[in-house]
Amino acid sequence: VPHGTTILQAAKSVGIKIPHLCYHKNLPISGACRVCMVEVEGARTLIASCAYPVTEGMKVWTNTERVIHARRFVLELLLSDHPYDCMTCEKTGDCKLQNYAYQYGVRDIRFAGEKHSYKVENGNPFIIRDYNKCILCGRCIRMCSDVIGVDAIDFSNRGFGTKVSTPFNVDLTESTCILCGNCVNVCPVGALREKQAESMGRIWEFAKVNTVCPYCGCGCVLELNIKDNRIVKVLSPLESPANSGNLCIKGKFCYEFVHSPERLTKPLIRQG
Ligand code: FES
Repeated sequence: VPHGTTILQAAKSVGIKIPHLCYHKNLPISGACRVCMVEVEGARTLIASCAYPVTEGMKVWTNTERVIHARRFVLELLLSDHPYDCMTCEKTGDCKLQNYAYQYGVRDIRFAGEKHSYKVENGNPFIIRDYNKCILCGRCIRMCSDVIGVDAIDFSNRGFGTKVSTPFNVDLTESTCILCGNCVNVCPVGALREKQAESMGRIWEFAKVNTVCPYCGCGCVLELNIKDNRIVKVLSPLESPANSGNLCIKGKFCYEFVHSPERLTKPLIRQG
């Protein structure tokens, strides 16, 4: 693998799966969640594979008892203050935390304790923010500041009170947020969601159709999620050549015209 490749990326390139929550291909590495721990020969502690570059001759174990124990422990901590509403959560089936809890058999949460009771924030037309479900992976923040360059959100407070927030906790519409929705695209849990897709169906019910965004000439690839012949939400494949999975507000959210009864369905002739 090329110089600088991390253990997680190297493993992925040869089909070895390592769980990860805060790592995302499009974002700078932060090493925040610790669910990607692996054993490296000669290292005293477990290593966060997303943040550690491989070196010549390095020996790595990705699935030992010690590694599995550590991952389960991390998942238990993450679930200790997480709502258990997977039955009704919009993200069910597409939630990385839920999938890993299932994969690692995390059933009893030994550390169950205080939970957050943040008000769900939805004072804008497109994005629902439910920070009761946030795992503080920081993906949304890195997307907003390092990829989009808008810096509308960051961590506020400390300890148990840590929360992703706009400056002075104002509504997104009063912040510098441009409502592009790329934070929603990278959220691994149900903390950030598309408002238009709420209660419109489960991920496995959607047919996926790739197309090119009709708005400008950039050529961004859209992945239309369709149920009952209606577009429910729009995502974008990470491999898209023009946009690497990132979209603007129009490509991401402005698709209602497709189903508008006011669309012209036959050619018109100007009279006189
Ligand atoms: Fe490595 Fe989160 S994926 S620390």
